Amino acid sequence: MDSKISKPSGKLGVLVVGMNGAVATTFIAGTLAVRKGKGVPVGSLTQMGTIRIGKRSENNFPKIKDFLPLHDLNDIVFGGWDIRQENSFEAASHAEVLNDKDLNNVREELEALYPMKAVFDKNFVKRLDGEWVKSATTKKDLVDQLRSDIRDFKKLHNLTDLVTVWCGSTEVFTPMEEVHSTIEKFEAGLAENHPAISPSMMYAWASLLENVPYINGAPNLTVDMGAVFELAEKQHVPIAGKDFKTGQTMVKTVIAPMLKVRMLGLDGWFSTNILGNRDGEVLDDPGSFKTKEESKLSVIESILQPELYPELYKDYYHKVRINYYPPRKDNKEGWDNIDIFGWLGYPMQIKIDFLCRDSILAAPIVLDLVLLTNLSQRVGFYGIQDWLSFYFKSPMHSPNVVPEHDLFIQHVKLKNTMREIMDEEPVTHLDDKIRFLR
Ligand SMILES: NC(=O)c1ccc[n+]([C@@H]2O[C@H](COP(=O)([O-])OP(=O)(O)OC[C@H]3O[C@@H](n4cnc5c(N)ncnc54)[C@H](O)[C@@H]3O)[C@@H](O)[C@H]2O)c1
Repeated sequence: MDSKISKPSGKLGVLVVGMNGAVATTFIAGTLAVRKGKGVPVGSLTQMGTIRIGKRSENNFPKIKDFLPLHDLNDIVFGGWDIRQENSFEAASHAEVLNDKDLNNVREELEALYPMKAVFDKNFVKRLDGEWVKSATTKKDLVDQLRSDIRDFKKLHNLTDLVTVWCGSTEVFTPMEEVHSTIEKFEAGLAENHPAISPSMMYAWASLLENVPYINGAPNLTVDMGAVFELAEKQHVPIAGKDFKTGQTMVKTVIAPMLKVRMLGLDGWFSTNILGNRDGEVLDDPGSFKTKEESKLSVIESILQPELYPELYKDYYHKVRINYYPPRKDNKEGWDNIDIFGWLGYPMQIKIDFLCRDSILAAPIVLDLVLLTNLSQRVGFYGIQDWLSFYFKSPMHSPNVVPEHDLFIQHVKLKNTMREIMDEEPVTHLDDKIRFLR
């Protein structure tokens, strides 16, 4: 097989912002366990998935990890930042996602991992206090400190490739302002401590300046701004986001396309969740919830296209609630009540009760995204990586196109881009045409 790029030779540094959180520690501990042969990477398309190459009749379905020149899990070196100083073993134990047996399998490796001091501002995450944080006179100085961290980490581990992934808390909704519009204005804003520049934006800025791709796992509008688009283009660095598509939204992006392809109508969709982890506590703050709500609400509208199907989808009622309920910890329960209608307008209902585990669903997404975003960079892709929209609740997209939310269309797009990267033909499913007898 002819490929444009070859297997990477060096190591891949993964810098996790919020590395002591539930998602981050589940991702790190899980990846360490898998590479020791102590676990199976269930949920990871790059590790477990296959990809069809050529016509169906050729029966060629290699594993994605054998088809694409991705970094091996053994190449990954973990680092990152958090506002709490504890090591990754302590942090993973506090997160209460993985059990003692799984954590003890990788205890030594986790105990050796400590976060670097974070850039934190309580105005953006009201429910948390930062203990392990950087200080400086200006936001520009903070960005410079983050840049030094990245360079030191790269040097220490003799890294060739690096990726930053935001697994930090959801920040308060920050509307876009003039300061976010161009590189020049953003740089001036950093020097003047502009209040609309959040910590996540500073991590992204530092990463891009160091030619490190940035993945946004939260709904924050960190990299959805003119200044970052400009910088990513200028530096030729990929950016991807936003908000990992895990529990309820994953289900929504399967059910909504089903309604649409069968031309079934929708009267209302009520989604509510209970969860008791720190993410739930942060989202209990109305500012942080607003950021999440914006991310969750747009999904159905964009799939159903009410402007094209007014009789079916013009007036449906959509409500999303997230309730902090400590006893559930990371084991979220998401209920959906969907009022639909069929032939001649007769009403029906769908009820879904998804007892999921948030970080168990998110960890394989983080793994796939770091491997695939690094691949993007090695292939020469830069700017918004909309081929990775499969992994996001609120996929970033160019201003002149509408985002694609349908999980299966996203999946086709993801796999066809993988084929394109490897100079293989896209799969259109037209090679199995029915032949008519004449
Ligand atoms: N778990 C899921 O299914 C899921 C899905 C989509 C998105 N997300 C998002 O992923 C993020 C992480 O979720 P989680 O459940 O791990 O939350 P968490 O609260 O357990 O972890 C967040 C971590 O970020 C740290 N942090 C906060 N501000 C920081 C800063 N400025 N710099 C460095 N560290 C900082 C916190 O100390 C904490 O350790 C959240 O934004 C969440 O909304 C999670």
